[in-house]
Amino acid sequence: MLAATIALTLQAPALIPAPVHIRPGDGAFTLTASTKLLLSGDAGGAAKLLRAYLTPSTGLRLPTTRQTGNDTIELRTDSALGRKLGREGYRLKIDGNRVVITGGSSAGLFYGVQTFRQLLPAETLSTSRSGASSWSIPAVEIEDYPRFQWRGAHLDVARHFMPKAFVLKFIDLLAFHKLNTFHWHLTDDQGWRIEIKKYPKLTEVGAWRKDTMLVYGNPGKYSGEPHGGFYTQEDVREIVRYAQERHITVVPEIEMPGHAQAAIAAYPELGNVSTPLEVATKWGVIENVFNVKDSTIDFLKDVIDEVIDLFPSQFIHIGGDECPKTQWKQSAYAQEKMRRLGLKDEHELQSWFIKQMDAHIAGKGRRMIGWSEILEGGLAPGAALMVWLGNDGAETAVKSGHDVVMAQTSHTYFDYYQSQDRTKEPHAIGGFLPLSKVYEYEPILPSFTPEQTKHVLGAQFQLWTEYIRDPRHLEYMAFPRGCALSEVAWSPKEARNFNAFRQRLETHTARLTALDVNFRKLD
Ligand code: ACM
Repeated sequence: MLAATIALTLQAPALIPAPVHIRPGDGAFTLTASTKLLLSGDAGGAAKLLRAYLTPSTGLRLPTTRQTGNDTIELRTDSALGRKLGREGYRLKIDGNRVVITGGSSAGLFYGVQTFRQLLPAETLSTSRSGASSWSIPAVEIEDYPRFQWRGAHLDVARHFMPKAFVLKFIDLLAFHKLNTFHWHLTDDQGWRIEIKKYPKLTEVGAWRKDTMLVYGNPGKYSGEPHGGFYTQEDVREIVRYAQERHITVVPEIEMPGHAQAAIAAYPELGNVSTPLEVATKWGVIENVFNVKDSTIDFLKDVIDEVIDLFPSQFIHIGGDECPKTQWKQSAYAQEKMRRLGLKDEHELQSWFIKQMDAHIAGKGRRMIGWSEILEGGLAPGAALMVWLGNDGAETAVKSGHDVVMAQTSHTYFDYYQSQDRTKEPHAIGGFLPLSKVYEYEPILPSFTPEQTKHVLGAQFQLWTEYIRDPRHLEYMAFPRGCALSEVAWSPKEARNFNAFRQRLETHTARLTALDVNFRKLD
């Protein structure tokens, strides 16, 4: 083990997220046209990506050599290191002659490559050609591994559709910060964004709305323009494959039983009321929810089946949040169903609904995850909870042996304002979540026992897009707060120090600029 103490001293390279151990060395390695790659183990993917990262800016081909020697970048995997540091762990050693990156698996090697990219001059991150012909990297030794296994980012593409090219860029930015889970919020009242072959109207009708609320209110202010878009199954496969190559799991979210109006607009038989509905144009919690008929459950199981075929993720997210019970209270069918099933209230009916999905998903060898409210009326066995509301749900869940992902509004809702002076910021949903507060986030609650702590899979930030209308605005909301969350999820708790992080960010923002990220300037 290397000494941990100097991880955050100023002379150490400014890496984000901060590595576990870092020891700056003497001298520097120089990357030139004669630098070659030396590969062993499961290093093919990392080599391909390293070339794809560096060739546009440097023009270097980075050919492969079979000979150990000077002027090489060695990329290797080592299962013994994997047993010691975990599969996502890596070692990186740079001296005047060589770079050696060893991963505990191809994932660890990939993270070593991300660190290596951060150590290079920022211009090498750009897609435009650098004027230089050699690039210097400081000598350093690093040993590193993540604190949490779920290091995530949520992106709502239902409220505002984000083009495929941007989704791919977003995935690259997650990878650059060693985040490994992309939670893709694909359906909501205002749009259904994933093609489902069996039910084409979900996107033919559900992916398009005639207007968009710009400022909340009654009646509020509207754009007066239609909005829409969706991902074909081919797009989805491409995105999932792209993410996989970058060691990112894409967790799809299909919302139920609430946030369902776009689906009901497409297939009115899924709803509770006979009046026809349109894809929603305003924000908020909407009373139009799925009915509880067996035919609706079957419809959603069909949808889940196609989703399972597209996404290799262990977890399938079924939403479960913010489902008003008004229509079920007024529905003779729902009331009769509750009596028949011996359920005492509509919360138990919601639980019954969720349990149908849980059983179906579990039957396919996957696991269900849902927002805090899936606790209402009892958590389905095997289900994991994504905690967005308070601490109580997290405590209840881990006490009963359920896994949790921490995603609380207080520290992870990146749709909140970044300044208290709202006149200086683009219109947002509300709240106030500055960089420093994200950085302070602690996913392990003080009340958790060591046994309960094992059920905390990790943490993620959320980008709800009611008021985020395009990729540039989204980048502004995501960074640098996403840098802070990456450190929460990756770096050791003891190493966290906001002032040191803030200092490293000064260097890191030059990288974000080279990556063409419209980040919010540091205060
Ligand atoms: C949520 O913010 N409704 C999960």
